[in-house]
Amino acid sequence: MKKILQIGTNGQVGWELLRTCAPLGDVVAVDYPDVDLSDSDGLRELVRSVKPDIIINAAAYTNVDKAEIEPEKTRAINATGPGVLAEEAKKIDAVMVHYSTDYVFDGTKGGPYVETDQPNPLSVYGQTKLEGEQAIAASGCAYLVLRSSWIYSKHGGFLEKVLEWARAQEIIRIVDDQISSPTPARLMAEITASLISKIEATNENWMLERKGIYHCACGSCCSRYDWAKEVLRLDPNSLGKHVQKLLPASTAEFSTPAQRPLRSCLDSSKFEAIFGMKIPHWLNALELAMEG
Ligand SMILES: NC(=O)c1ccc[n+]([C@@H]2O[C@H](COP(=O)([O-])OP(=O)(O)OC[C@H]3O[C@@H](n4cnc5c(N)ncnc54)[C@H](OP(=O)(O)O)[C@@H]3O)[C@@H](O)[C@H]2O)c1
Repeated sequence: MKKILQIGTNGQVGWELLRTCAPLGDVVAVDYPDVDLSDSDGLRELVRSVKPDIIINAAAYTNVDKAEIEPEKTRAINATGPGVLAEEAKKIDAVMVHYSTDYVFDGTKGGPYVETDQPNPLSVYGQTKLEGEQAIAASGCAYLVLRSSWIYSKHGGFLEKVLEWARAQEIIRIVDDQISSPTPARLMAEITASLISKIEATNENWMLERKGIYHCACGSCCSRYDWAKEVLRLDPNSLGKHVQKLLPASTAEFSTPAQRPLRSCLDSSKFEAIFGMKIPHWLNALELAMEG
């Protein structure tokens, strides 16, 4: 039975991982303040005491706007910490699973991004997540970095905000010029659990041959406006709902500290081919997520 060290249990993906990974082995799951990604010594001590076969890092500094005013803290959490975990993973031949983002791209390609496309982050968040990917790769450990996009759950993120706005406002305005692929946190956790099962069922070489960065997001793309429209349509709970109108807006109308890529859809076909999985269309995934 494998020993799994899960860093981050209270975030969207971390919360779901607790459920999907529980049957897979001996899981040691920790969250802030018991683990602090900006404390390198603490991270080293944790890995050395747990001695895991697999490290999953679901924690990150994810407040994209606040990151602009806290670049050093963001870098410590998103880049240095994951790099330290990967170095420790390498020393004990552990596999490291980590998540990254479509925000490593500038959104100007005009079509879905593949893994060989050149990153060009527009924000501190995107830049530090890219540095985290690079630090993990440089460690030489067996790693899987899953770049995803617009991760949501009923416990946070955009979906929760839309449901809140629908109960607080009559008119909701959502940008229709930011395009990507909404991806449920539950799906990311299920995919991670499935990968861990595959790692368990095979030998070390299987994993080493497949290590790398993969795009892993729902199929097809939509605007934030289209996404919100479907969330409202599928919302099973009409209680307290005030919203009368959902109106499209442009990114330029909302001033935010961080710049976001406009079209950052990810092409996940490499991931699907290498790991033999099919990632659902974003709308099918949303329908399932809204059911429960
Ligand atoms: N959300 C998205 O749209 C999205 C899209 C693509 C990729 N990703 C990536 O997917 C992964 C999971 O995202 P998510 O949406 O599940 O994130 P999330 O819900 O924001 O959870 C991140 C967790 O990390 C914790 N954390 C923050 N600083 C920490 C520190 N110094 N030490 C330890 N833990 C710390 C947070 O705690 P507090 O809440 O107490 O700060 C939170 O529980 C991240 O790597 C993220 O970059 C996210």
